[in-house]
Amino acid sequence: KNIVILISGTGSNMAAIVRAAQQEDWRQRFGARVAAVVSNKADAKGLAFAREQGIAAAVVDHQRFESRELFDAELARVIDAHRPALVVLAGFMRILTPGFVARYAGRLLNIHPSLLPAFPGLHTHRRALEAGCRFAGTTVHQVTAELDHGPILDQAVVPVLPGDTAETLAARVLTQEHLLYPRAIARLLPRL
Ligand code: GRF
Repeated sequence: KNIVILISGTGSNMAAIVRAAQQEDWRQRFGARVAAVVSNKADAKGLAFAREQGIAAAVVDHQRFESRELFDAELARVIDAHRPALVVLAGFMRILTPGFVARYAGRLLNIHPSLLPAFPGLHTHRRALEAGCRFAGTTVHQVTAELDHGPILDQAVVPVLPGDTAETLAARVLTQEHLLYPRAIARLLPRL
């Protein structure tokens, strides 16, 4: 069962998934492996980590395409070369077309740094602070055509602490994401 992970930047969630797959021996337990990491940005930091781990790393630069449809078609071509059982969005910052989402229906996951359905979209931590939330968190969900909606697979909660900024809250949430995402994937793999 091949897993393809899509990133746009740091890729710390991707790295957490790769490490969990190694440490928990997903190959032995689920017949699963991270087969490839694909980024829409050539300078995404996570690409170097993937290559160091011996994982195929590819770039599909969205700026080279005239429409979302053309970008998504090339992205799907690169992904499908790895025959994925699961496609994992991990800090992938492009909105996907309904056609792309339908192609991977039931095997396309995303992690979003809020307690959905609160705060879909960008700037989640700033918005949670502005709203006076006492708790924040992160959500792993199935991807559907509507951005940051789709069935929730799991969530983790963190407290909002006095003096928090968007940055300190983001860091607290990110630590939980690194635990939550691999766990949610490991739970899903036997059913794929
Ligand atoms: C994470 O907080 C994720 O929820 C959000 O973007 C961040 C990505 O971080 N979509 P990284 O690239 O995995 O380090």
